Amino acid sequence: MQVLRSYAEVAKERQRRTNMAEVQIPRVKLGTQGLEVSKLGLGCMSLSGAYNDPLPEEEGISVIKYAFSKGITFFDTADVYGANANEVLLGKALKQLPREKVQVATKFGIAGSFPNIHVKGSPEYVRSCCEASLKRLDVEYIDLYYQHRVDQTVPIEETVGELKKLVEEGKVKYIGLSEPSPDTIRRAHAIHPITALQIEWSLWTRDIEDELVPLCRELGIGIVPYSPLGRGFFGGKGVLENMPASSGLTAHHPRFRAENIGKNKSIYDRVESLAKKHQCTPPQLALAWVLHQGNDVVPIPGTTKIKNLDQNLGALAVKLSERDLREISEAVPIDDVAGGRYYNGLEHISWKFANTPPKDSRISI
Ligand code: ATR
Repeated sequence: MQVLRSYAEVAKERQRRTNMAEVQIPRVKLGTQGLEVSKLGLGCMSLSGAYNDPLPEEEGISVIKYAFSKGITFFDTADVYGANANEVLLGKALKQLPREKVQVATKFGIAGSFPNIHVKGSPEYVRSCCEASLKRLDVEYIDLYYQHRVDQTVPIEETVGELKKLVEEGKVKYIGLSEPSPDTIRRAHAIHPITALQIEWSLWTRDIEDELVPLCRELGIGIVPYSPLGRGFFGGKGVLENMPASSGLTAHHPRFRAENIGKNKSIYDRVESLAKKHQCTPPQLALAWVLHQGNDVVPIPGTTKIKNLDQNLGALAVKLSERDLREISEAVPIDDVAGGRYYNGLEHISWKFANTPPKDSRISI
């Protein structure tokens, strides 16, 4: 009877965390330039088809509006998502929201479409992308404009120099980088303050912790972890079905492939058992772990489903001590993770800690 009662209590607690209607999402400063966002953002990419088919437009807009109604004000998109469609979708949702209360983050720098994509960061390209994003979003300014991937042929000073002009013109409020090296960050920051670094960070992708996280803290740069749920792995993707993904982006991802997903299942199992201990679900525990990495850390999990969005909001109610965080980290030893962190077929783009040539040293070819 005692056991039954405690199960009931656990179920009630889970239910409470899943239904976060009454919870206030904290607001935090991202970077030291004045940008304020909700502690949890929404990655909009998958609304336009990434892991699955795109949602019908009205449904995509409903997810964004629902997130806003719950206190999420930080929405992440990019020109490349859905081949421009994701910016258009967010723009349509914005028409039904108070623009000044929303922080729109978008990105430039990945040109072409998968798998024929390449990285571009020349000043002319930066400007033309910004103009095009402003039109698609139908807004007068972009709150946070990231370089999506670092162009290894263009000195970062040139790219950021143009971003600085866009800030001065009022088209962009704050600027960010994604997947730069520490040296690229320092050089960029010397030209114009970098407000945020968007980078992969989750229980099974930890390689930013040694150098990039301390550097961001030294320079006052906020951290926006993408794929905080391991592209759905900690929500059970590939594991619960016990099969590799056959379509969508994860079909190209080493960690989800047949040879690796079985090995990675033991990681999921350990997270699941710790989630039970904390009376939450595995994705909530994985997200809570990221949320606890600091006040300057604002993850942007993606989802196409209101019920998953509700569950992700519930991660804000999971309280973890230093000891809990250590125990959870230790349950996912990086050496146990089977498969690299990036997609097969995209090794040619500068997805990881990229450098650029020294200023004024480009050789014309
Ligand atoms: P990305 O940043 O690349 O979008 P992510 O945020 O780590 O990656 O994970 C996104 C994936 O997690 C999506 O496939 C999403 O699937 P749904 O659209 O079906 O929700 C999945 N996901 C998000 N929240 C989830 C949850 N609470 N439970 C299960 N899966 C979830």
